[in-house]
Amino acid sequence: MQLEKHDMEFLGGRRLRRPRMADWSRNLVRENTVTPADLIWPIFVVEGQNERQPIGTMPGVERLSIDLAVEAARAARAEGIPAMALFPYTDPSKRTEEGLEAINRDNLICRALSAIKDAVPEIGLVADVALDPYTSHGHDGVMEGDEILNDETVAILVKQALVQARSGADVIAPSDMMDGRIAAIRAALDAEGLERTILLSYAAKYASAFYGPFREAVGSGARLRGSKLTYQMDPANAEEAIREVEQDLAEGADWIMVKPGTFYLDICRMIKDRFDTPLFAYQISGEYAMISIAAEAGAIDRDAAMVESLMAFKRAGCSGILTYFALDMARKLNA
Ligand code: PBG
Repeated sequence: MQLEKHDMEFLGGRRLRRPRMADWSRNLVRENTVTPADLIWPIFVVEGQNERQPIGTMPGVERLSIDLAVEAARAARAEGIPAMALFPYTDPSKRTEEGLEAINRDNLICRALSAIKDAVPEIGLVADVALDPYTSHGHDGVMEGDEILNDETVAILVKQALVQARSGADVIAPSDMMDGRIAAIRAALDAEGLERTILLSYAAKYASAFYGPFREAVGSGARLRGSKLTYQMDPANAEEAIREVEQDLAEGADWIMVKPGTFYLDICRMIKDRFDTPLFAYQISGEYAMISIAAEAGAIDRDAAMVESLMAFKRAGCSGILTYFALDMARKLNA
């Protein structure tokens, strides 16, 4: 049916569907793109040789022994993924109240960092700083009674950052949310001649219900006593994220991260508009689980949902995305 003349006048001659009519014109006007170079791939490492352990709540994700993590790094590199983030499953016998396995320079994560750095030196390696994979109570810091002690924890995190940087981590990513850790880690790295190590601060990290599958993967979930609300941010708050980012940039953070991702895209956009900083978001384990389990159930198409979900981060202003889909997405883009 033709539009009436008065309808056309109302439209001012504009038909917004016009550029949507063909692939070529959609391609020309697309505002955002995702490329393999936008992705950081988080992986879980475990002791052993040729060992793969599926993670029940994250279909398609496995814990890998170091030899297989090296293979994963080769695969990532071949697809143009610039960096990986490593998380350890620490043997339960090594988990203690204070989580001091974190500062053992021969721990699983340090061995994984140096093995990957030796074998695939071109890939960037991100190491997480926090104590939860190492503590018997599953918290990111040292506890006294019910309290997570701030400054005592920072003192340990500084040592953790140093052993990781010396083992080959290019990027130190504190995910613990203690106050003052960025300044303390920066000063210690610089004092040790590690001024090239990049600091990626989980500046706006929320106390989220969506970390469950990750906690299964690193084995901290069943141990966790209480909640992380005294250090991670309240999901109700946005302005507080500005204070967190301001503080971490002032303390010397090179890059800023928002976490979780999908439910916090407003925070990403707000930070991008207010700060001149490279911004990252973490599409966390629960987000990955929602998409992959819904796809397994036949509710959505996995590939299409993956692409759409990652595009959303670019639209929100992120430079890069930490995502468990990284290898799948890069393979799809390169196919
Ligand atoms: C802990 C840490 C968590 C994640 C990364 N580092 C979980 C938590 O804070 O309990 C979550 C990542 C994910 O869910 O994929 N320091």
